[in-house]
Parts: sequence; structure tokens; C-alpha cells
Amino acid sequence: MSKHIEVLPDSKALIQRSLELVLEKLQQAIAERNTATIALSGGSTPKPLYEALAQQDLPWEKLQIFWGDERYVPHDHPDSNALMARQAWLDKVPIPAANIHPMPTDESDPNDAATRYDRELRQLLKLEQGQFPQIDVMLLGMGDDGHTASLFPRTNALQVCDRLVTVGNKDGQPRITLTIPVINESKAIIFVVAGENKQAALAQIFAPDPDTETYPSSLIHPEHGELWWLLDQAAGANLPQA
Ligand code: 6PG
Repeated sequence: MSKHIEVLPDSKALIQRSLELVLEKLQQAIAERNTATIALSGGSTPKPLYEALAQQDLPWEKLQIFWGDERYVPHDHPDSNALMARQAWLDKVPIPAANIHPMPTDESDPNDAATRYDRELRQLLKLEQGQFPQIDVMLLGMGDDGHTASLFPRTNALQVCDRLVTVGNKDGQPRITLTIPVINESKAIIFVVAGENKQAALAQIFAPDPDTETYPSSLIHPEHGELWWLLDQAAGANLPQA
């Protein structure tokens, strides 16, 4: 694993650097395999990054779009991560609809939705039984509480290591999320984190012996790939490496 930490002067520079890095990793994958896979994060931070990606000239038909997590709402609900990414980016570029793989949220039992996405990932990525995918670009955000994807502090989802997808729990609300081993198998994990309100969790996560149950982002260590923390000054100001 190679770990990289970059603190950018402001949120504009953070998004520009995130764009550069995402493009570099996608183009590298396309050069190697004629295809690239990316898992998108939700929340507010990545929206300007997605808007910037919409301005790029990429071989869109070679991209396969997945999500790292999703709120358990319809895909036309204002809280939907898939809706945000479509409005900011995917609806603005000629990417084939068949290349966009939102997490299902239409099962009465969220566990059934997680099982469906697990099966879809295995089929699309031609995985053997027990094999984990190596997503080329795993985009992640981090909550003020140190969660990432929908892996929230002290929840059962943190223990799930035998599946690709599971049900997260945010204050009793179900979420669909990739599991820790899937995230950690990625070729490039890119955290994009902005804002002063992230400082406290970052200090815990970057501490020598972090409390991983309380700060799940500290569980993210790629087995073989690269780990990138891209922070703005507001978020990364007090980090020891900063
Ligand atoms: C989600 C995200 C989540 C997000 C963090 C940070 O579904 O909300 O995937 O993990 O990345 O909560 O959110 P902000 O970028 O809004 O601070």
C-alpha cells in the first residue's frame, strides 16, 4: 500500500486536484485494460468534482459507474446519491445507460437490495465465488463522525467481510454500502474531504492507534493499491503531516 496525504489551500484547489487524480487513474486503467471502473461517493463534497468531470472529454463508453453507498430512498428522491451524480455529471455526458449501475433501493427489505447489488457486481465484473473486485477508483468522503461510505461508527456493517455489499445504518435509517474488504481491494482509494468540521475526526483517524469502531474511515487500508487523502486546508490544518 502507498499512502498519500495532500492538503490543498482551499476547496477550489481540492476539487481541481481531485479531478486531476481521478482522470489520471481512469486513463491509466483504460490504457491498461480498455475499461475503467469507478465507485462514487455521495454527500455534498463531491458534487463540484462531478460537475468538473462533466466538462471532460473521456471515452465514456469505457467507463463503468458504481456507487460506494446509497441512501435507502427512491432514485428520484432529493437525498439520492445516484440522483446527485446524474444531475451533476452523468446526464450531461454520452455515457451509455448500461454502464451506470446505481444501487437498488426498491426492495421492501434493504438486505434484498444489498444481495441484488452484490450479485450484479459479481456478474458485471465476472468475479469467481469468494473473489473481491478491484475497483480502479474508489471515491470516498468522510463524515464529521469519521464514517465513510455508509459504514457508520459502531454498526454491524463494519464487521461484514464475507460479502461485497451490506446494509448500513445511520441513526436507524438503512443505507446500502460496499463492505470494507471491497473498498480495501481497490486500486486507488481517493478520500476527498473538506471543511473545518472534519478536523476532529481526521485527528483521530491519523492518530497512531485509532479507535476503528468509533472512526470507521481508519479501517480503510488498501491491500495492494494506493490510498489518497485529499484535504482542503480547513480540514487538514492540524494534521501532523500538514
Ligand atoms: C453519503 C456519503 C457519505 C459522505 C460523508 C461526507 O451517502 O452521505 O457517501 O459517506 O461521503 O457523509 O458527506 P459530505 O461530503 O456531505 O460532508
